[in-house]
Amino acid sequence: AEGDAAKGEKTFKKCKSCHMIVSPEGETIVKGGKTGPNLYGVIGRVAGSTDFKYGKDLVAAGEGGLVWDAESLTSYAKDPKGYLKEVTGNSKAKSKMTFKLKKGGEDVAAYLASVAPA
Ligand code: HEM
Repeated sequence: AEGDAAKGEKTFKKCKSCHMIVSPEGETIVKGGKTGPNLYGVIGRVAGSTDFKYGKDLVAAGEGGLVWDAESLTSYAKDPKGYLKEVTGNSKAKSKMTFKLKKGGEDVAAYLASVAPA
């Protein structure tokens, strides 16, 4: 289903304890924590590809071709470790993101897409 960016902006409140949204020009869109990577431009980006210190399984997923889109981001946010196990084929895969978003992933994806030019 198409996400609702306005709803997603509200849902992003659950993410900002760990994630900021800051443009390459240094414009702060959402002032957030540093426990997780900057999510500016994450839609369309190869997984695990910023200068953040990622876990190896997320980097492996990106090297295996994972690019974030509405569908993959929604699945990942629901169950990061389970999703990494699935996409890497490694039943022992781990995730540094332990938070799980039960619903509203499509909306957050639409919001994240709306703040960064494609
Ligand atoms: C990674 C989304 C909440 C901590 C990521 C990535 C996405 C994401 C898409 C991968 C980014 C990339 O490949 O560059 C979200 C969304 C959230 C959320 C949409 C809210 C719904 C949180 C929260 C925390 C957190 C609350 C901390 C408690 C992390 C960490 C990573 C990460 C540590 C790196 C994972 C690794 O290296 O294995 N998140 N996140 N996230 N997130 Fe979140």
